[in-house]
Amino acid sequence: MDDGEREKARIAGVFDRASATYDQLGIEFFGTAAAELVRRTDPRPGESVLELGSGRGASVLPAAEAVGPRGRVVATDLAPGMLAGLRALTADVPWVQVAEGDAEHPPEGPWDVVQAGLVLFFLPDLHGTLDRVRDVLAPAGRLGFTWFGESDDSWQELTRQLRELAPEPAGPDPADEDRGPFSSVATMHDVLSDHGFLDPTTSTIRVQVEFSDADQWWAWIWSAGLRVMVERLEAHGVLDRARAVAAPELERRAIAGTLSWWTDIRCTLAHR
Ligand SMILES: C[S@@+](CC[C@H](N)C(=O)[O-])C[C@H]1O[C@@H](n2cnc3c(N)ncnc32)[C@H](O)[C@@H]1O
Repeated sequence: MDDGEREKARIAGVFDRASATYDQLGIEFFGTAAAELVRRTDPRPGESVLELGSGRGASVLPAAEAVGPRGRVVATDLAPGMLAGLRALTADVPWVQVAEGDAEHPPEGPWDVVQAGLVLFFLPDLHGTLDRVRDVLAPAGRLGFTWFGESDDSWQELTRQLRELAPEPAGPDPADEDRGPFSSVATMHDVLSDHGFLDPTTSTIRVQVEFSDADQWWAWIWSAGLRVMVERLEAHGVLDRARAVAAPELERRAIAGTLSWWTDIRCTLAHR
């Protein structure tokens, strides 16, 4: 297994373990991002849609509704727990097929629409993936994907303190990281043009997440990408310490009414 395959397996493992609570905490976030994605890809009755990194189907279900029974949606992910959850949710929608699959290797098309919600930034080989996605799109087919823009940096100090509790660095500080193609809308559009996509456009929506209390904040951290950090704290036996470190800040925010977090979600659409 090379480094890229190992990295994909690591990410899939995190989301597999998160899948029991992912997008099931009563917090409106993934659905909002997915609604923007499907608004922009605009699947029409009878069309074929391929969903990469489907998770529990935040954008699969609205796409399935849009294409209807004459259409077809194939949803792929590498995390078995996500796929099991999505199979249960789509059991009575026969035009949705749920299958294990690596977003870097999309199945043969031609697809009218390829959607990828909050997943492309996890892929070790984005450039190869874009070439392969372009090749499986139908002529004039649409690629739509969401990714992160600006976000609430008022949590940085707490996350820095939590990261410091585990002896080994978890990797580069996200604040310093070169985000490559994801650095800006302009860099992303250039990358898409380099890979033969036409007319890239990006919309941005700001999504704010409100937490009911400190427990729900912790549940949220365990339920999605930041799970990487808490699993590491757990592996180092410092989870109780982390809870104690976070408690005053969470309590302060609860009293001040700022137990919330926001991020900009960018939604990019391009054509073959
Ligand atoms: C942040 S979640 C987004 C899920 C869903 N699209 C949504 O909007 O709720 C990222 C998903 O991508 C999946 N994933 C990560 N790397 C993948 C890969 N190489 N191939 C397929 N799925 C992948 C994870 O298992 C996880 O379900």
